[in-house]
Amino acid sequence: MPEQSSIPTNALSRMAAIAGAGTKVGVNFVRHYAQAAVSGRLNQDALDAANARDIYKTLSELKGGPLKIAQMLSTDQHLLPAAYADVFSQAQYSAPPLSYPLVARTFRREFGREPLEFFDEFSREAVAGASIGQVHKARRGNLCFAVKVQYPGIADSLRSDLAVVKPLALRLFGLREEDVSDYFREVEERLMEETDYEHELERSLELTGQCACLAGVRFPKFFREYSSRRILTSEWIDGVPFDAYCDGNASQKERDRIGQALWDFYDFQIHELKRFHADPHPGNFLVSDGKLVPLDFGCTKQLDPHFHKRHFAFLDERLLEDDASLERALRELRILLPEDGSAQTRNMLDLCRRSIALLARPFHEGEFNFGDPEYLREIRYLGEQSEREGYGPKMLRGARGSAESLYVNRAYFGLYNLLARLRARVMTVSRFSVANGQSNPVAGGVG
Ligand SMILES: Nc1ncnc2c1ncn2[C@@H]1O[C@H](COP(=O)(O)OP(=O)(O)O)[C@@H](O)[C@H]1O
Ligand SMILES: [Mg+2]
Repeated sequence: MPEQSSIPTNALSRMAAIAGAGTKVGVNFVRHYAQAAVSGRLNQDALDAANARDIYKTLSELKGGPLKIAQMLSTDQHLLPAAYADVFSQAQYSAPPLSYPLVARTFRREFGREPLEFFDEFSREAVAGASIGQVHKARRGNLCFAVKVQYPGIADSLRSDLAVVKPLALRLFGLREEDVSDYFREVEERLMEETDYEHELERSLELTGQCACLAGVRFPKFFREYSSRRILTSEWIDGVPFDAYCDGNASQKERDRIGQALWDFYDFQIHELKRFHADPHPGNFLVSDGKLVPLDFGCTKQLDPHFHKRHFAFLDERLLEDDASLERALRELRILLPEDGSAQTRNMLDLCRRSIALLARPFHEGEFNFGDPEYLREIRYLGEQSEREGYGPKMLRGARGSAESLYVNRAYFGLYNLLARLRARVMTVSRFSVANGQSNPVAGGVG
């Protein structure tokens, strides 16, 4: 892969690059529609794949916000057409690396010293690339370190990137700005936090400390003395990347154990700590010595306790059998709006009941096999069905729901997705959750 020696940080050149992608997408459309006119059939898959490649190429050259967004979208395989999800999921691995002189310059600026004045060894090349940084391996004495160095200029350019990406995203999903402005603000806030490695260091220390009680999970140590706003240093962990572990020959028992560790990690954070690692992407986990190793606390979310209570009230099975209560709960969360007509309300109630029953099924069953391909098929089918029934963004006018739900839903979608890849069977009965309508039955029991 060619190294990039600079990134276009100036807003205009970034805009031009995005516009370039827009043009290429247009060209692909024309080419495919022309083909369709000849063959009488539109090859939607090929079209998506070509567009996805062009958009991805532009985003990866820009790094920063756009690439992060691509990564986020790819986590949720149901949000994007399959072709986009496949291409975008490369985001974690294939941003072009920065040259060593740029890395050394960042060190000088942050600490007034070069990497080799800190460490006995420091890899000149990045050992892993990521969205807004790259990771070098270093050694000092017997200790090995993962040193994450942020791409220079990223934090400053992120805001203008978001301004550029916003209309692109609105168009991609057919959304109205006024309906989703709260959601955009939420994403913007989380992304800005991700550019601040001092913030990430504090969250890493806090969450790894609080989760230390969990069996089955191991965390790297984090080093304040080698970290700054733009550099984050943790203990290097030799492990198998999560994807490789899933594709490998681990036994069912081992998979179940890693799956259980994943479930408990999220269950404890979301329901007990009410602050959680909000980026459940395969690139953020290793498996080492039969333990799950979560990395990367760059994206975390703190939940308001009132929101938490209302949101997880939907896990109560009784709610699904009582239309009046369900309607009340949906109105409280502004998923149903006063201006919705009676037919729409009825249809929405029905759709919500089906979606909640399906997505909460693992909670209701107590023990669940996420490897069941039928379950994923059902989720996909429900998505297609609601689209067919017209519950696309065009019909769902109005600012609905709460932006607070965005990252908690993303966490659960990501978690289900990871568990499906693992083909794991896990005990879902929560030691902490408000499932079944009881509020925190054993809160504080662990940790
Ligand atoms: N402590 C560590 N030990 C081993 N590898 C690590 C460690 N921290 C990060 N990595 C590698 O670097 C990659 C990117 O790190 P990550 O913290 O996820 O960056 P980003 O916040 O940019 O996503 C990871 O996917 C992993 O391969
Ligand atoms: Mg990461």
